[in-house]
Amino acid sequence: MLDSRRANITGQIDKPVNAPTSNRVPTGIVSLDRIIEGGLCRGDTIIVAGQPGTGKTTLGLQFLYHGATKCGENGVYASVIESSERLKRNGSRFGWDFNRLEAENKVSLVSLQQTMKAGVSTTLETVLEALHSINAKRLVFDSLSALMASFESKAEARSFLHIMLKFLESAQCTTLMISEVPWGKRQLGTSFEEFLGDGLIILDANFDNSRVRRRVYIPKMRGTEHRLEGYDYYITKDGFSLAPTPIPPDKIR
Ligand SMILES: Nc1ncnc2c1ncn2[C@@H]1O[C@H](COP(=O)(O)OP(=O)(O)O)[C@@H](O)[C@H]1O
Ligand SMILES: [Mg+2]
Repeated sequence: MLDSRRANITGQIDKPVNAPTSNRVPTGIVSLDRIIEGGLCRGDTIIVAGQPGTGKTTLGLQFLYHGATKCGENGVYASVIESSERLKRNGSRFGWDFNRLEAENKVSLVSLQQTMKAGVSTTLETVLEALHSINAKRLVFDSLSALMASFESKAEARSFLHIMLKFLESAQCTTLMISEVPWGKRQLGTSFEEFLGDGLIILDANFDNSRVRRRVYIPKMRGTEHRLEGYDYYITKDGFSLAPTPIPPDKIR
């Protein structure tokens, strides 16, 4: 006899409890998912912008770890900046075992340091191959700023990125594009990054009473009712998390 909890009318077995059931892709950061209707829209590309040390890589690794271990979604971390060994070492500090996930073909950490020297098309091919080889549904690209620097003109970069984003959307691959914001500057890396993609998450670090205070802002998240207030956020041994309540308006500077 069919178990009604496990099989639906067509006889298919229900997905595991944690598998994504809607078009929402949970980031793995519960406090963030809570303010964006449960997660990112499937197949969207979200820009994650912030100064060095604000936790962009940590957020990206957590997104992939959660996808692979809790949602049955494989993921690729493509880094122009760090080696895969360094990513694994940093991830292990949060208890995320990327060696195991790589051995299980659930995650692929790809260093683009060498391929960038061979040109943009080789770089893109390497990323696409990695996505294809493990049927990835999540991608973190670190960083858009480093990729931009290798184009000859802004127009070339724009058309290239347009094609890449269309591809990721058709592959239903939810993507975090990391953008480096130099210290002391409030604008993003190039003049069009903020117009690109379906959402923008800004990680901001400021000096407040002789200490660094981290705040996250979400100015844009298409198809989502989201909060506009900033939230303090923390990086602890468990990873990235937001304060439960937004920064009160009178404290926003
Ligand atoms: N194991 C850890 N526990 C707590 N905080 C950490 C840990 N590892 C890194 N961090 C914090 O995260 C910051 C680096 O985050 P990272 O994701 O590499 O930033 P980004 O990619 O934006 O440069 C460090 O500057 C440190 O403050
Ligand atoms: Mg980083």
